[in-house]
Amino acid sequence: MSTHALITMTLGALVLTACTPDRSPATTPTPPPDQVEVFSWWASGSEKLALDSLVAEFADQHPGTTFVNGGVAGGAGSVAKDLLRSRIAAGDPPDTFQVHAGAELADHVAAGHLEELTALYTRLGLDGVFSADLLEQVSVDGAVYAVPTAIHRANVVWASTAVLEAAGLDPGTSYTNLDQWFVALEAVAATGRIPLALGSTWTQVHLLETVLLADLGADGYVGLWDGSTDWASPEVTAALEDFERLVGYSDPGRDGLDWPDAAQRVIDGDAAFTVMGDWALALFRESGQAERVDYRWFPVPGTAGTFDLVVDAFTLPVGARRPDAAEAWLDTVSSLSAQTAFSTTKGSIPARLDANPAVFETYQRSALSAYQGGVLVPSLAHGSAVAPAVLEEISAAVSLFTTGGSTVADLQDDLRRAVART
Ligand code: GAL
Repeated sequence: MSTHALITMTLGALVLTACTPDRSPATTPTPPPDQVEVFSWWASGSEKLALDSLVAEFADQHPGTTFVNGGVAGGAGSVAKDLLRSRIAAGDPPDTFQVHAGAELADHVAAGHLEELTALYTRLGLDGVFSADLLEQVSVDGAVYAVPTAIHRANVVWASTAVLEAAGLDPGTSYTNLDQWFVALEAVAATGRIPLALGSTWTQVHLLETVLLADLGADGYVGLWDGSTDWASPEVTAALEDFERLVGYSDPGRDGLDWPDAAQRVIDGDAAFTVMGDWALALFRESGQAERVDYRWFPVPGTAGTFDLVVDAFTLPVGARRPDAAEAWLDTVSSLSAQTAFSTTKGSIPARLDANPAVFETYQRSALSAYQGGVLVPSLAHGSAVAPAVLEEISAAVSLFTTGGSTVADLQDDLRRAVART
């Protein structure tokens, strides 16, 4: 099976569940035409800096239109996505909003929230600018609905060299499977430091998806979302037991933390490892950390040849009151200079085919080759694998489990039932 066919299969299996927007006229006053409200969750820290780099490009390219920040804090859109849906339902969409490629985008399309962008692509000269595979991720039934900004890898472990050394571990070790990693986690636990920094529910779902990927392999993982992997199988039980074990290496304060807080524990030398998408690279860099000296990274053990894919993109909502301003924003985010500036700051790789890898740091160049040569699978926690309603149910089941309210067997059953909704 081709690498990219995996994702296509997953999307093909979706039944989309969003509700239809209220198309009655918005009651809010008509906004000034020379502004564009951009809705995202890049609202603070390294993510806000990356957004700022897009805003600076926008000011250069479209000086007549003022950027209005509709940012809503909360990693992975944990707060933003609900708010966005309420605004759309109330007939008050922002001029453009951040969306993940895959199931999340398809759900908005099925609900009639998004304008098709085929003509806009031609107007902006975007035909041929992105790979056909990537274009497919932002398309439904062959029609394109979003402009991809950047590509992230989700299955990455970030590690503190000092904490590993203090535990008598060689920071340069590559762990090829979870069992080897458990030995290292145990060694850190013996020093009294936190072996694995974790955060609130979405980061736990993020960890879960990487464990499923490690234990089931790419085909088995994709099969969870398209029905070809049996959720009741002993392999899934074993993966959930590994997840339980990993959660046991985190500290109970995790539910109050967002991803930057968890990564900060690694930076501060309070924790050995954290599993997070490569937006974490930006935080390590901004904290003055040097790769190999202060921190190391490696693919989640057991997932080395796989690229757990997160694609950020922007849209033109149906009923947006300033479509011309939104088009100007989409023009900027699609441009080579903006994509380069953004990814440099964010830790991602540009979506455009013509970006120059030489301007990026070592990690990003390796992410680019992993993306080009690896097996691509859709991220669960970042909306690509399943529709939002299913992800919500999965998140509730994971939260119940990590707060002690259910067993591995319950979790397995809850996940099976959540996915069976599709
Ligand atoms: C993801 C998003 C990334 C990053 C991350 C943490 O969902 O795709 O760009 O923002 O959340 O907030």
